[in-house]
Amino acid sequence: MLIAQISDLHIRPHGLLAYGVSETNLLAEHAVHALLRLDPRPDCVVITGDLADCGLDEEYTVIRALLARLPMPVYAVPGNHDRREPFRRAFAVDGYLPRIGFLNFAVSCGPVRIIGLDSLVAGESHGELAAETLAFLEARCAEAPEAPTLVMLHHPPFETGIGHMDRTRLLAGAEQLERELAANPQVKRLLCGHVHRSIQTMFGGTLCQIAPSVGHQVTLDLRAEAPSCFMLEPPAFLLHRFDGTGFVTHAAMVDRAPGPFPFILPDDYPGRGAANRDQ
Ligand SMILES: [Fe+2]
Ligand SMILES: [Fe+2]
Repeated sequence: MLIAQISDLHIRPHGLLAYGVSETNLLAEHAVHALLRLDPRPDCVVITGDLADCGLDEEYTVIRALLARLPMPVYAVPGNHDRREPFRRAFAVDGYLPRIGFLNFAVSCGPVRIIGLDSLVAGESHGELAAETLAFLEARCAEAPEAPTLVMLHHPPFETGIGHMDRTRLLAGAEQLERELAANPQVKRLLCGHVHRSIQTMFGGTLCQIAPSVGHQVTLDLRAEAPSCFMLEPPAFLLHRFDGTGFVTHAAMVDRAPGPFPFILPDDYPGRGAANRDQ
């Protein structure tokens, strides 16, 4: 069982670049190709927010056309760059989002339960979990305490050390989220986006993972007053493999790399006798 996590697509209307330099539409297309190249293919894809860059209907039209190429189910939570109602309209046909209110949902992918939480605060960059959303999480956890569960939301509930991103993390509901996760050991991962880098820590007794962006990456700058900048570093995504007991997560590159090359040493390979061939 494989669950792919892509994040922070920041799709623009057709023909436009994000921030004038980031080819997010093209990179998201590359990400879709990378998912389709995987063998075995993921059983489902989850998206941890910022699908659109400005929450425009034209952006969601591009996203829908892109995701339609994926044969497996796709489940997404909104980020601060999304807008709730255009997002709901765009994915209504998939049937997993509520018709009104917060975009919280619970679905199953084989034996794995996926709970999506809406941390979007309209017009703001930071995230919050409303009392209603926390109650939703509590109820969904209570109804399947034995099912291995992934919880996903856009805004991470912890400080990463990248100051300008930390100021827009999950600023309300983090303590309650931590308590709820600690009370539910069936939650095997807390999956986030927003920071556009691969970052992990323990939170509420489970592993919290921020996925890199499939577009641009936030600059790795851990100074307290780091400016808000991004880099055109290689885009990537996460692949969560469930073996029936637990998850192991792999980072995967969006773009093709040369290879694969077999680990074979020719007879005249300098130092062959000393090399460890079990690479
Ligand atoms: Fe983002
Ligand atoms: Fe974000």
